[in-house]
Amino acid sequence: MKISKEELTMKKIIIASDHGAVALKTEIISFLKTKNCEPKDMGVYSEDPVDYPDIAVIACNEFKKGGYNFGILLCGTGIGVSMTANKIKGIRCALIHDIFTAEMAKAHNDANFIAFGGRVKYNIPVTQMIEKFMETKFAGERHLRRVTKIMEVEKCT
Ligand code: RB5
Repeated sequence: MKISKEELTMKKIIIASDHGAVALKTEIISFLKTKNCEPKDMGVYSEDPVDYPDIAVIACNEFKKGGYNFGILLCGTGIGVSMTANKIKGIRCALIHDIFTAEMAKAHNDANFIAFGGRVKYNIPVTQMIEKFMETKFAGERHLRRVTKIMEVEKCT
């Protein structure tokens, strides 16, 4: 379920990190530019400590203004930003750790945010996981029913 080369281009992507992933954010932004994407960097820009929930909320609120294809959230582990993002209405943030989860996050969960950790030792570069996510299409059908059920949980909690 790959998307065409044309669909891969000109994606507008929100990206933000806390102090635990500033270098990773820089690496990802460079990668996205080589893929003809337009990353919107919401900070942070130094390793001075900040609180990751603040970062996730800023990025998700910007995403919800519209016009973005998806968002990337980073902290030391990716856990804190993904936990926070998933409390915000309309956000489905997937914590990715390999190529398989990168693919499934789009194909089965139609994630609109993906999260990584700047202090995590992954077996493959984060940029490869992002590329896999970007080139995968949502599979729809039974997965649409399940994703709809995820979003319905927002209404009853
Ligand atoms: C910050 O020290 C660290 O807790 C944060 O980056 C993240 O890993 C939280 O989930």
